Amino acid sequence: MLTNDRKNTPAEKQFQRPASIKDIEKPHESLQRHISSLEHTNTDIIRRLIQICMFKDNEIGNHILRVGEISRFLADKAGATPEQAYFIGIAAPMHDIGKIGIPDSILYKPGAISANEYEILKTHTLIGGNIFKNPNSPEIEYARQAAMYHHERWDGQGYPHGLSEEAIPFAARVTAVADVFDELLSWRMYKEPTSETNAVKIITRNKGSQFDPLVVEAFMENLEEICDIRNTMMNKADNLWERYPHFNN
Ligand SMILES: [Fe+2]
Ligand SMILES: [Fe+2]
Repeated sequence: MLTNDRKNTPAEKQFQRPASIKDIEKPHESLQRHISSLEHTNTDIIRRLIQICMFKDNEIGNHILRVGEISRFLADKAGATPEQAYFIGIAAPMHDIGKIGIPDSILYKPGAISANEYEILKTHTLIGGNIFKNPNSPEIEYARQAAMYHHERWDGQGYPHGLSEEAIPFAARVTAVADVFDELLSWRMYKEPTSETNAVKIITRNKGSQFDPLVVEAFMENLEEICDIRNTMMNKADNLWERYPHFNN
């Protein structure tokens, strides 16, 4: 029979009531710590994936970090909640992660690729979607959306699924504009960078066909700041992580 002075075994102590209210840890505090540690882990995993892309090709690595930062800013201006914009900023750099499954002979081929090689290249969206399939966190779900759908077009003529308008996840619609803009301004083995004026012309010309019109409007309304973000990141290319606030919390 239990008595008041009976010593508790360790197993019983585990379920003992606290001696005073001070010993009670508020459940929401412990839960909050758990959630932020999970968020940190997810962000850390994505940062490591970005590092893989940077080992493969440093200029591509810098491009994807710029796309992340421009996408976060653009999402915010296009009406995303602060939380959505945050997740999009983390996810957008993952848009081309599927290219790790594409042969270098196609990725780095000088000159034009054949129609067959283009079909292979297009599968980087499906490979990226597969890398993040069965997401168990918002970070991974947003990364899946960016990787799988960034080549879909507003008019339904894109790939891999030919989705149109709002059937395309918002994260991918924002990433598409940021990606094409930065890509046009970047040097590649197969092309010279174009001018800012020309890049802006191409984005606006494709408003409502390739791109979500509202995202393009937000892009145009905030063009100066978007160019500032890009130029600042270009000038700090040696230490880009410091220029990338999402991953330095
Ligand atoms: Fe892509
Ligand atoms: Fe890209």
